[in-house]
Amino acid sequence: MEGAGAGPLRRLLLALGCALAAAGAKVLPPPSNLDFSFVQICTLNWTWTAPENVSSSCNLEYCSDIVINEVPQDRREWSKSLFRVTDTFLNGEMRFKVRSECKYDNTSEPSRWVETSVRPKGVPGTAATDLDCVWHNLEYMDCKWLAGKNARSDTEYALFYWYDGLESPKKCNNYSVCEGIFECIFNLTFPKVSNTYPTISILIKDDSEEIRPLCESKNPTTLVKPATPKAVTLSKIKDGIHLEWSESDTFPANCLYYEVEYHSDDPDTAQTIKVEYNHTTVPSVDPNSKYTFKVRAKPKPECYSSKLCSDWSEEKSIGEKPDSMFYFVLIITIPIIVAVSTIILLFYLKRLKILILPPIPDPREILKRMFGEQTEDSQSGAKDDSVNAYNRLIKEEEIHSLVLTETLECSYSENENR
Ligand SMILES: *[C@@H]1O[C@H](CO)[C@@H](O)[C@H](O)[C@H]1NC(C)=O
Ligand SMILES: *[C@@H]1O[C@H](CO)[C@@H](O)[C@H](O)[C@H]1NC(C)=O
Ligand SMILES: *[C@@H]1O[C@H](CO)[C@@H](O)[C@H](O)[C@H]1NC(C)=O
Ligand SMILES: *[C@@H]1O[C@H](CO)[C@@H](O)[C@H](O)[C@H]1NC(C)=O
Ligand SMILES: *[C@@H]1O[C@H](CO)[C@@H](O)[C@H](O)[C@H]1NC(C)=O
Repeated sequence: MEGAGAGPLRRLLLALGCALAAAGAKVLPPPSNLDFSFVQICTLNWTWTAPENVSSSCNLEYCSDIVINEVPQDRREWSKSLFRVTDTFLNGEMRFKVRSECKYDNTSEPSRWVETSVRPKGVPGTAATDLDCVWHNLEYMDCKWLAGKNARSDTEYALFYWYDGLESPKKCNNYSVCEGIFECIFNLTFPKVSNTYPTISILIKDDSEEIRPLCESKNPTTLVKPATPKAVTLSKIKDGIHLEWSESDTFPANCLYYEVEYHSDDPDTAQTIKVEYNHTTVPSVDPNSKYTFKVRAKPKPECYSSKLCSDWSEEKSIGEKPDSMFYFVLIITIPIIVAVSTIILLFYLKRLKILILPPIPDPREILKRMFGEQTEDSQSGAKDDSVNAYNRLIKEEEIHSLVLTETLECSYSENENR
């Protein structure tokens, strides 16, 4: 533990001490019974027993290190205790090594390393990837991930989580898959007074042993995303605009601040102001302009190390020039109305024209002529002529189109009514 927080020079010296062996010195016996066990999920407890026959003058410490896939992780630690707790690395071989050393003593040599390893389960490349979790409004954790590139397309992953305070790991049940993105949501709340939160261990695996498990430990304060501010209300006060919005009630006092973005008629004039409370006033506004506002919440760095902002609230506007919208509507709708009515009118006119003014020789003219002749020659027994004219008319009628037939009928009825 002495290595932790030490300056680089100190660490270098300690590393040298760990590696150095005074020439010809007595070699220490190594620790024995090296083993490991899981602490719930994602955490390993490596344990060993002390070597025998170490001189009481020796300031005995254990130097341990981790090697993942044959790559030393440079996570050497010195400690007097007989265990070390580390994260689990399941996506490859994780090797743990430990040896005994007499600290500040150049008369004895460190022992040889004692090693043990955790071998990965499942098929390589099947582990979930790109795990990304967001802690919404200190209420629920929303985790998303992608399938490993070698995972079968019908792979069903399951997410388990655990943190100090939970008796046993819990399975996340609100699970969905959408367009290749896996998502699971679980409730995560702590008493409002607490300002420290336990590390959340997340394990993603499947029911078969085919999928390689993925384990990640998340610091929840880095994942905080506040809820979107709601109920934004604007009101005009003397020379200014006052706005207010509702505060999230899940956050401790003074742990959020807000960004208010507003612009007048020209969106390029947008300005952003930082606000500590759930209200603010924008002074000296142009009374003849319309102003549009939106608000978002951000966690304060004193409380959370998260850089996530809430979504923007819906936009609210206040001020003159609602007319501009009105004019806009007019400018758009009037031509449309005119165009539509013109089309309707044209269409109607065309039908009307067909009805009133058939393009073919007007049968009324023919009939008028016919009946005119008839009245003139009423005594001269011109009934045959009338009948002939009628026959001729019917023949003509046969030649002409249906429209004409209709027109004829109309015309007849008109004539009959007269
Ligand atoms: C690890 O194991 C040791 C020995 O059994 C135990 O004393 C210690 O509390 C364990 N650590 C954790 C975090 O479980
Ligand atoms: C420890 O020392 C004692 C006496 O010197 C000896 O009998 C014993 O075998 C030693 N144990 C080991 C593990 O070397
Ligand atoms: C051990 O270190 C001391 C000073 O720290 C030195 O005086 C002594 O000669 C060293 N002994 C050996 C065996 O290197
Ligand atoms: C599951 O998540 C969805 C999306 O956030 C939520 O609307 C729904 O209420 C959740 N269901 C349960 C049972 O928690
Ligand atoms: C703003 O915060 C105060 C005090 O926290 C609260 O009483 C008020 O209702 C909040 N305003 C809105 C619009 O919710």
